[in-house]
Amino acid sequence: MSADFDRLIARDGTASVKHDGRASYFGTTAVTPLWVADMDFAAPPAVLEALAARAAHPVFGYSLYPDGAFDALTGWLAARHRWSVARESVLMCPGVVPTLYAAVQAFAAEGEGVIVQPPVYPPFFSAIRDTGRRVIENPLLECDGRWTLDLDHLERCAADGAKLLLLCSPHNPVGRVWSHDELEGMLGVARRHGLVVLADEIHHDLIYPGHTHIPLATLAQPGDRIVTTVAPSKTFNIPGLGLSALIADDAERRAIEKVFGRLHVSASNPFSVAAFEAAYRDGGPWLDALMRYLDTTRDEVIDRITRTMHGIHPVAPEGTYLMWLDCRGLGLDDSALRDFFIRDAGLGLNPGISFGTGGSGHMRLNLASPRPVIRNALDRLDTALRARPHDSLRQ
Ligand SMILES: Cc1ncc(COP(=O)(O)O)c(C=O)c1O
Repeated sequence: MSADFDRLIARDGTASVKHDGRASYFGTTAVTPLWVADMDFAAPPAVLEALAARAAHPVFGYSLYPDGAFDALTGWLAARHRWSVARESVLMCPGVVPTLYAAVQAFAAEGEGVIVQPPVYPPFFSAIRDTGRRVIENPLLECDGRWTLDLDHLERCAADGAKLLLLCSPHNPVGRVWSHDELEGMLGVARRHGLVVLADEIHHDLIYPGHTHIPLATLAQPGDRIVTTVAPSKTFNIPGLGLSALIADDAERRAIEKVFGRLHVSASNPFSVAAFEAAYRDGGPWLDALMRYLDTTRDEVIDRITRTMHGIHPVAPEGTYLMWLDCRGLGLDDSALRDFFIRDAGLGLNPGISFGTGGSGHMRLNLASPRPVIRNALDRLDTALRARPHDSLRQ
């Protein structure tokens, strides 16, 4: 399938957080937006056609989840992830972040502990703090630019009264696709301490050659308590439509359903349902083309930064379209680093510090823009680095 990922699509004026939210987040619109995790690419043709067809029907009443949506999802999980999921295990949800909030409330009482493994996607923290639960941190380990799980420390965290572990798999922002041994090790800790694991697998389809995403639930033994969240939003670039699904055994699924029920939250709208079904049913070839494009972009960015931009070390993502940049070699504190990217380079990236412990001195780059945009961003970064005083590098 040929999709034109090089095409520049103006998104200003579409109420886009990534583009129209620049002034409020960066204090200026004069930055290339390479932050929020959505893509600047058109959604797959199959999705556009399904949305157009739905829009052509003039009545937008309350919607239910059609059988086709469940079938498309379970078919996708079987074909792409070798994961056989019964329809009864699936609960449609308004989004992954709402599901994180619901899971925290379902499985930990106020004041009880929930484990996170920072640096990690910020709502992992807010889901715990905003609901009055206790954050227990098991920071990732970093060795020579490679980030891993700290299983020994996880065991101690689990013994500290934790009820729930929030796992990000693949991991945003460090881009790890966790190995079989890492996942088994983590599940072993959860098993020994009776932890529920919420596996946020929203990035599971965005995997580079040489790596395989293993759904945590496929490693489960009887008695393990795993809730997995998936969504077509990252995979097919439809996050604004807001629909996800969770997969869990009866007890865990009902516990989360009860929390959503208390707020009478409904996830479904005519467009999200139409896009969800079309994406999972017909979006495969588009995704394959997307990953080829992203893979080339990723390699080019790593090559260029490594060769020419001393003081910045790119961490090659194994999955996700997000690249973690270790900028500690620039010798800037977090505030100066943010200013350097915004003011000197004209680039809007996410500051690493916003991902919690371990994020200091880093920036997160979103690669999912047309390559000319990414190349231009690298040119700007290069120019800004060259304009710095010569002795300012730490290494
Ligand atoms: C790990 C992770 N979970 C969840 C989300 C957002 O999920 P949703 O838009 O379905 O709430 C993101 C978006 O960046 C993410 O990176």
